[in-house]
Amino acid sequence: MLIIHHPDELSDYLLRLKIQQKSIGFFPTMGALHAGHISLLHAAQKATDTSVCSIFVNPTQFNNPDDLAKYPRTLEADIALLEKEGCDVLFLPNAEELYANEKPMSLDFGGLATYFEGASRPGHFDGVARVVRLLFDYVNPDHAFFGLKDFQQCMIIRSMIEQLGLNLKLHFEPTLRESDGLAMSSRNIRLESALRNSAPVIYKALTFAQASFGSLPIHEIEAQAKSMIEREPNYKVDYFQLADARTLEPLNDEDKNAEPVALAAVFAGDVRLIDNLLMK
Ligand code: PAJ
Repeated sequence: MLIIHHPDELSDYLLRLKIQQKSIGFFPTMGALHAGHISLLHAAQKATDTSVCSIFVNPTQFNNPDDLAKYPRTLEADIALLEKEGCDVLFLPNAEELYANEKPMSLDFGGLATYFEGASRPGHFDGVARVVRLLFDYVNPDHAFFGLKDFQQCMIIRSMIEQLGLNLKLHFEPTLRESDGLAMSSRNIRLESALRNSAPVIYKALTFAQASFGSLPIHEIEAQAKSMIEREPNYKVDYFQLADARTLEPLNDEDKNAEPVALAAVFAGDVRLIDNLLMK
C-alpha cells in the first residue's frame, strides 16, 4: 500500500493512473478503522481498479473540542488492517496542507442540515462538506463510498455533489453491526464495559420501531423507544425520531407516501452514538 501525506503528491499520482484508464474508488474516514470501514474498501475494490482510503480527523466538523480531543486514534493498527485487506493507497494529510488552498463555496442544504445531527451539532455538516469537497478535489474519484450508518451525512454528500455538479458515482453501503446489534463505530472503543453491555438497546429500540410501524401512532413509537433506551443506567436519548428518508422532515401518521426511517442519537455516558433503520 502506498502511503501519501502531501495533497499535491496524491493528485499527481492518481492523475497518472487516470491517464492509464484506471478507475479510482475513494472512501474517506477518520480512522480507528473497523469492519464497517473495511466494507467500504471491499465495495471500492469490487467496483474500481484503485482503492483509495483517507484517514483524517477533521477538526472543522467537531463542534465539541472535548469530542475532538477524545476521538480515538489508532494509526498503526489502521495501516496494518488496510495493508492486510489490500487497499492500494492511503492518504494521510495534515490539516494545514489540506485546508491551505480551500476555495469558498456556498451550498444550501435546506432542511437536510437543520434536523437531527444538524440541530444537535451546529456547524457539523458544513465541516463535513468542506473536508469531503477538498478530499474529492485532490483524489478526483470516479466512485465514492459512504456508510448508511451516517444516514444524514449520505444525504448531505449527495446534495453537495449535485450542487457542485461533480462527476462521480456515489455508493451508499449498509450498516455493519456487532453480533449483538450495536452498529460498528470508532467511538465504541470508548464505552466502558457496563455501557458497552447495554449498547444493543439502541438497535432493539430501532427494531421495535420497525415492528410497530403502522400499528402504533408515531409519537407513541418514539416515546416507547426513548423510554426503552433510557431504562439503561447512564443512557440518555438526544433524539429518537421517525422521518421521511428523502427529506428528513419529521413524519406524521397521515404521511402515506413517505419513506419512513427512524433516526437515533444516544449518549452512553459521555459517548454519543448514532444509528438508524428504515421502517420498511
Ligand atoms: P468515519 O466516522 O470514520 O466514517 C467513515 C465512513 O465509514 C463513513 O462513510 C461512515 O458512514 C462509514 N461507516 C462508519 N461506521 C460504519 C458501519 N458500522 N457500517 C458501514 N459503514 C460505516 O464519517 C466520517 O468518518 C467523516 O464524517 C468523514 C466522511 C470521513 C468526513 O470527515
